Amino acid sequence: MESFVLRGSYIWSESPRELVLKPRAYGVCDENGCCAGVFDALPERYAALPLRDLGEALIVPGYSDLHTHAAQYRDIGLGMDMTLIEWLDGLTYPEEARFAEADFAREVYGRFAAELRTGFTTRAAIFASAHREGTEILMELLEQTGLHTLVGKVNMDRSAPDYIRERDAASALADTERWLRETARFQNTKPILTPRFVPSCTPELLTGLGRLAEQRGLPVQSHLDETPEEVAWVRELCPDSESYAAVYDAAELLGPQTVMAHCIYMTDAECALMKERSAFIAHCPSSNANVRSGIAPIRKYLDMGLNIGLGTDISGGSSLDMADAVRDALSASRLLWRLGEEHWPHLHAREAFYLATAGGGAYFGKVGKFAPGYAFDAVAVDDGAWSGGDETLEVRFHKMIYRARSANVVSKYVNGRRLF
Ligand code: GUN
Ligand code: FE
Repeated sequence: MESFVLRGSYIWSESPRELVLKPRAYGVCDENGCCAGVFDALPERYAALPLRDLGEALIVPGYSDLHTHAAQYRDIGLGMDMTLIEWLDGLTYPEEARFAEADFAREVYGRFAAELRTGFTTRAAIFASAHREGTEILMELLEQTGLHTLVGKVNMDRSAPDYIRERDAASALADTERWLRETARFQNTKPILTPRFVPSCTPELLTGLGRLAEQRGLPVQSHLDETPEEVAWVRELCPDSESYAAVYDAAELLGPQTVMAHCIYMTDAECALMKERSAFIAHCPSSNANVRSGIAPIRKYLDMGLNIGLGTDISGGSSLDMADAVRDALSASRLLWRLGEEHWPHLHAREAFYLATAGGGAYFGKVGKFAPGYAFDAVAVDDGAWSGGDETLEVRFHKMIYRARSANVVSKYVNGRRLF
């Protein structure tokens, strides 16, 4: 890859509180697709590199979507009056079952991949369905987008209707191993082990997946503590476990490559366990509101030093646009403050931006800021429709948080490669 210089007004987070603002600066991408630095004046040693000037555009790190469901893409806007378990049985399982059909999968996943390619997202952790072939089709389509994605064939061998449930742990594991073999050819799109959640996986299946994760160094995604009814169900299914999180931990599924969606109802012991294992939380505020799950205490988790990013979680969530996830995280946090959690301050815009960029990016490695050695994942935003004149970059940042959406993203780079 050829090194290059990208000029524009850079904004990124060094930490939850610390925003870096560099008007009309020069970002340098090296031959490995990594950031070599962002400079107010271009250093002499880079003077001969090709330069692209984005004029007045804002340049921010690509956002990492830590949790979403490609097989629920068609259902956005449906089932919003149901709670989780009704919603799974009544809407989601029947829809996911349709992905057994390759032509159907290709058509829906094609539209999902096309939308994900636009907008702020540069990296994502994605659930497909329980079908091996359909999951491979999704990976093939995502591979072509240039985005860096982790995609999971869903595992579920209990507490689900026959038409979507895997026969037993042994066949689910064999099918998963075959899927891993058949998708090893992809570069941008890698597999992630995906036990749906504890209620839909037998202990044998969880243990088998934990072993596979350990043997092959694979990442893991699942759901944790999303609704009180689900937590009670897990308590019933696993009476000897100390907690919901402890069930995953006993199967060796909690580690620094694990991302757990929701985590609304974590006990102190579960928080400590997640921290001890360096596991990630995918906060999905749109889904949590739509499915009436609750409000995750993200401020508390941030202050405890837990690893956190944001997820769109369609179709519980109603938008695949990560810019909406940022706004929804802010709204949810303010409402939680008003509802009586005043001893934690609510999130501020810079912290929500941190979650979408450096917070979630850390799940993918050195991703989510323009620091030397970090992947050059950059999104250019045209804010000319609502900003301009003598506004400071800080004012433009705040307006971008509340006004920008996918359509305002005019250029995108992933690991130094330009997508558009
Ligand atoms: N828990 C188990 N499966 C799902 C799912 O598809 N979406 C959400 N939001 N929660 C789940
Ligand atoms: Fe989900």
